[in-house]
Amino acid sequence: MRRFSDDFPILSQDNNGKRLVYLDNGATTQKPKQVLDAVNRYYLTENANPHRGVYDLAMRATDAHENSRATVAKFIGAPEDSVIFTQNTSEGLNLVAYSYGRAFLKPGDEVLIYVAEHHSNLVPWQWVAKTTGAELKYLYPDANGRLTVEELDAKINERTKVVAVAHVSNVLGLETPVEEIVKRAHAVGAVVVLDIAQSVAHIPLDVVKLDVDFAALSGHKIYAPMGVGALYGKKQLLEKMPPFLSGGDMIAAVHEYRTTYAEAPRKFEAGTRNVGGEVGLAAAMDYVNSVGWDTIVSQEEALIAQALEGMNALPYVQVYGEATAAGRHGVISFNIEDVHPHDVATILDSDGVCIRAGHHCAQPLMEHLGIGSCCRASFALYNTEEDVQALLKGLKHVREVMGLGS
Ligand SMILES: Cc1ncc(COP(=O)(O)O)c(C=O)c1O
Repeated sequence: MRRFSDDFPILSQDNNGKRLVYLDNGATTQKPKQVLDAVNRYYLTENANPHRGVYDLAMRATDAHENSRATVAKFIGAPEDSVIFTQNTSEGLNLVAYSYGRAFLKPGDEVLIYVAEHHSNLVPWQWVAKTTGAELKYLYPDANGRLTVEELDAKINERTKVVAVAHVSNVLGLETPVEEIVKRAHAVGAVVVLDIAQSVAHIPLDVVKLDVDFAALSGHKIYAPMGVGALYGKKQLLEKMPPFLSGGDMIAAVHEYRTTYAEAPRKFEAGTRNVGGEVGLAAAMDYVNSVGWDTIVSQEEALIAQALEGMNALPYVQVYGEATAAGRHGVISFNIEDVHPHDVATILDSDGVCIRAGHHCAQPLMEHLGIGSCCRASFALYNTEEDVQALLKGLKHVREVMGLGS
């Protein structure tokens, strides 16, 4: 197994006197030196406000902004003019809901979403449904935690206008059948909004080949800084959508009572951009490419298989979603019998192991599963077999500390 920890200085520190084992990558990933250096270089040598100045430094800042867009577009298989820079996945999904949803949904239309959606791909659709009169309908997982083609066939109909799903659930960790979703949605004239927040660092993506209409990601979940993300939208849809936010830089011409807009993607990029973050996102994607997808996919799959094997051997651990590595990416959510998830996370922290505990911004899924919260261990390319062993040892320790045996 290749090791990447030298690229991630933060991982060399201790946590509560133990080796830091970072398994909260679904929340945010750590950043490699290559990304930090690229951001630093931008601010040390190229910073100015893009698209505004005519002097050389401003033009280099504009190049940094547009070259970053080209890198992001290439990484997800999109044309450059179909990629909008955002702050994060939430902003990308809100942009689609507010702009596309408000302009094109009407009473009688249906918006179909998965009950496992992160609140970012759920609350905006609730709001848009309420304001347009469209109806929000839910898809549910089967007993194995998988979204099935049968469930899609039962719910998609000629009233469906939007299908919004995560490529990988941030709780169940299981891939949704995107190709089947797209086929069925397009057959009834609906658009597909794909939340790729949890897949972008784990699965090589080609949004054009997948034929999704929109796809939203956060940089911080793929080794880039916080505060930068991207939204892909098919150009013909972006062209007919109204702006989301308005103001500087998204206009063609402004008169006292009338404004015309810049072409997409700039129509959707109001105000000064986070160019340093965009440079960091491009550097992060270059970093992932330099590691290579074969390495990332095979190593992460091996770690997840190893973790699941260990968890499946502990009778007091319940994993949510089929406890197999097949079709699972990055995430394992679980509970320990008779122990609150916050106690699990706190005791693991005392062993140096960082996991997430809570509802994971997926409360409708928690309700569907009949639980209030759960624990989540999530993996990145720098995790190792030792990390998995520390997690498994920690789970036994939790039982001991709680006086429940091991
Ligand atoms: C599946 C999914 N969608 C959306 C989001 C929201 O991402 P952000 O907070 O970066 O906007 C997350 C964050 O955890 C997520 O896991």
